[in-house]
Amino acid sequence: MKERGNFGSKMGIILATAGSAVGLGNVWRFPYTAGENGGAAFILLYIGCILLLGIPGMVSEFIVGRHAQANAARAYDVLSKGLPWKFVGYLGILTSTIILGFYAVVAGWCLQYLWASIAGQLNGDADYVRNYFMTFSSDPLKPTLWGVAFIMITHLVVVRGVQKGIERASKLLMPMLFILLLVLVVSSCMLPGAMGGVRFLLHPDFSKLSGSVMLEALGQAFFSLSLGTACLCTYASYFSKLTNLLGSAGQIAILDTLIAVLSGLLIFPAAFSVGVSPDSGPSLIFITLPNVFQQAFAALPVVGYVISIMFYALLVFAALTSTISMHEIGTAFFTEEFTLPRQKSAWIETVVTMLICVFCSLSVGAIPSIKLMGFSLMDFCDRLTANFLLPSGAMLACLFVGWYIPKQIVHDEFTNGGTLKGNLFSIYLFAVRIVCPICITLIFLHQLGFV
Ligand code: PFF
Repeated sequence: MKERGNFGSKMGIILATAGSAVGLGNVWRFPYTAGENGGAAFILLYIGCILLLGIPGMVSEFIVGRHAQANAARAYDVLSKGLPWKFVGYLGILTSTIILGFYAVVAGWCLQYLWASIAGQLNGDADYVRNYFMTFSSDPLKPTLWGVAFIMITHLVVVRGVQKGIERASKLLMPMLFILLLVLVVSSCMLPGAMGGVRFLLHPDFSKLSGSVMLEALGQAFFSLSLGTACLCTYASYFSKLTNLLGSAGQIAILDTLIAVLSGLLIFPAAFSVGVSPDSGPSLIFITLPNVFQQAFAALPVVGYVISIMFYALLVFAALTSTISMHEIGTAFFTEEFTLPRQKSAWIETVVTMLICVFCSLSVGAIPSIKLMGFSLMDFCDRLTANFLLPSGAMLACLFVGWYIPKQIVHDEFTNGGTLKGNLFSIYLFAVRIVCPICITLIFLHQLGFV
């Protein structure tokens, strides 16, 4: 068989995998979810979920991928000794393909807004900005074309391969993303009245915590770490045998959480400084924030102009490193399972996700009658993946590694053949065998209305 690609450096591994984790989930969804659900109390709960479920889940997917050195479907097959565990890989590939389809819609909006900021089209009063978004999102062509363009950009990176495409793009985009974020956080926190926003995010309100907030935190942790999609399994198949799996999972989780909290420290102080209450959903980044930037920097419009460009560039970079990872899952699958050239496989993934993207985009824009079970296709895909497919994928990965594959293999991968010392293995095994399955079962029971 042809030599598989590999990440060329330890830094490349961390940046590419962190790139998958860091995305719209961090910069957009995390801040308002934390703000609405108890601020620092939610953040503490979220960190608990990351430690208890996120990191063990990540390590489990890493173990399967690195051991098998193959795409997700084959990776599960190699380890399943004849039983049909391969379907866990298929499930992950399906999940990531659906997510890529609807994620690209929002990523496309970010691209349009980056362009609009550069062209100075977002200047106007609150009504103007609202109308701008309404007109844009209901246009039959524009949002769809931006979404398709985003997938095409992703395609152009993935088609170049693991080292020359994915690793290179991550090494460029991740540091730029971090610098942009830091500059934006500092600018936002220096605005008059900004401390109200910092307090709002960091003040722990434990009275807001409830069963459903806990599930919210769990769902956010899964989505943010790209867990349950076979993405981590696919990337781990390019890891070297020397990569410390637990250490890498820890570093990626820390980076991911840091970027999520920093994004909160960008959005809330700016919003509070102009007395706007940050809302949720698409209106936060496409209606509220363009206004906030204009008002906050009204005395220095050039700064407001630059800040707006930097913010949408941040969103585009964050989204791109994530869409690349989702695309790679399908591309690796088609390349290896159907022995196709990488070019062709990437095209298959691109065309399939573009189709999903077009229908999702139309369902929240020009053709609202595209519905499934009472939801727009976009919302349906979002709910199906977040509430059902992601937790199922993560649960099956934990059960597979915790209970099914030989403990010796798990131990060897966890300790790199016994060369890594430390006695965290039994804690890890307890987490994947008992804690993760129980917690995820609780999520399902809650969704069905039993708890
Ligand atoms: N983790 C990404 C985010 O927080 O935006 C989303 C994501 C990427 C989900 C890759 C799934 C995936 F396979």
